[in-house]
Amino acid sequence: MRRIPRQASEPMRFTSLKLKSWKNFKEVDIPLAERVFIIGPNASGKSNFLEVFRFLHDLTTEGGGLAKAVSLREGMSKLRSLHATVNSAVEITVGMKEPSGATWKYQLVFDTPSTTSTDVLIKVETVERDGNTLLTRPSRDDEADPDRLRQTAIEQVAANKDFRQVAELFRSIRFMNLVPQLIREGQSSPQQFPGQDPLGRDLLEQIRQCKRGLRSSRLKAIERVLRSVVPNFEELRLETDSRGRPHLAVGFKHWRTNAVRQRESQFSDGTLRLIAMLWALQEDAGPLLLEEPEWSLHTGILERLAAFIARMQREGSGRQVFITTHSERVLADAGIAPEELLLILPARRGGSEIQPAARYPVVEKAMRSGLTAAEAAQPLTRVETMRLFGEPA
Ligand SMILES: Nc1ncnc2c1ncn2[C@@H]1O[C@H](COP(=O)(O)OP(=O)(O)O)[C@@H](O)[C@H]1O
Ligand SMILES: [Mg+2]
Repeated sequence: MRRIPRQASEPMRFTSLKLKSWKNFKEVDIPLAERVFIIGPNASGKSNFLEVFRFLHDLTTEGGGLAKAVSLREGMSKLRSLHATVNSAVEITVGMKEPSGATWKYQLVFDTPSTTSTDVLIKVETVERDGNTLLTRPSRDDEADPDRLRQTAIEQVAANKDFRQVAELFRSIRFMNLVPQLIREGQSSPQQFPGQDPLGRDLLEQIRQCKRGLRSSRLKAIERVLRSVVPNFEELRLETDSRGRPHLAVGFKHWRTNAVRQRESQFSDGTLRLIAMLWALQEDAGPLLLEEPEWSLHTGILERLAAFIARMQREGSGRQVFITTHSERVLADAGIAPEELLLILPARRGGSEIQPAARYPVVEKAMRSGLTAAEAAQPLTRVETMRLFGEPA
């Protein structure tokens, strides 16, 4: 399969998601904000939720495609929900919006042809722009040659011409689960494209490759955040060592005059993770998936993380961000709106359901009247109190 070429197109974002039979979600139908926090008890499906977007990425990335995206997840039997009717097809439908206001919808339904088969075939694939259908499958060609149903149109450069923006959006999705140790080692992993390593190994290289003016304005924005949380912090810079390798260097106010500035090898795990996150948030790139960013962050930073994320979105290009979190402190920010918070709760007939907090009248009212997400919604995700609050409206 050929690589989908990059082209200048307006950045888009996701506005809604529908799922059927996806892992532990039997059914999902929700709007999506520009900044989304996903909370829920352990093993409730937070990672499975992010996995939907990783799947869309894998559909459209080089060397990807439907068969690959399914096999990376160990086949249909692992993907389809154990809570759905036996052998029901998996459906993913996403709504999207361009900054110009144009709306898009992409729908994909796929299944195995029989219970014993490992083949994955498309049952439905449709694309709409502003309500006009641009693609409907199965098409006549598909009926004449059913093997065509092994490949989505979105993954084929020859077939996605009319909706390349959608393919681009999917391909631009990035998952991040930063490992400070690997950022320190700074080796880029050979299989990844720049900015594609979920563990953050290519951070320094990415910062170096960024155009000078843009790089310094992004580093300045990070500097402002760090100044507000790290005592005596003064300056963040990119430096190159004698072997030409990039490094991050920080300087402190009132520092002993003969002391060397600190480089990334001396940063705490939390500082490195925070810098990497703040950099990524400002990138002119697609939706960012952050898995439990609280890990190793200082508690003083956690309480301001939601605000930092919003600030970086404003200073950067407004990259959409999906954040799973366990941390009450991250949610102790009154700036989080009920539509930005997705609650995962056990579903009545097994598995989980996910709903925006705005759909729970009690939670929504509490948040609108000034309670934080932590105060208003998190008690709900404790299994024992969950149903006291009733069903979503
Ligand atoms: N195909 C499936 N059908 C039903 N449940 C599934 C399926 N695949 C995974 N799960 C369940 O999903 C849960 C894990 O979800 P996960 O997203 O890792 O949780 P979290 O990130 O919230 O801790 C496990 O309980 C697992 O049994
Ligand atoms: Mg998880």
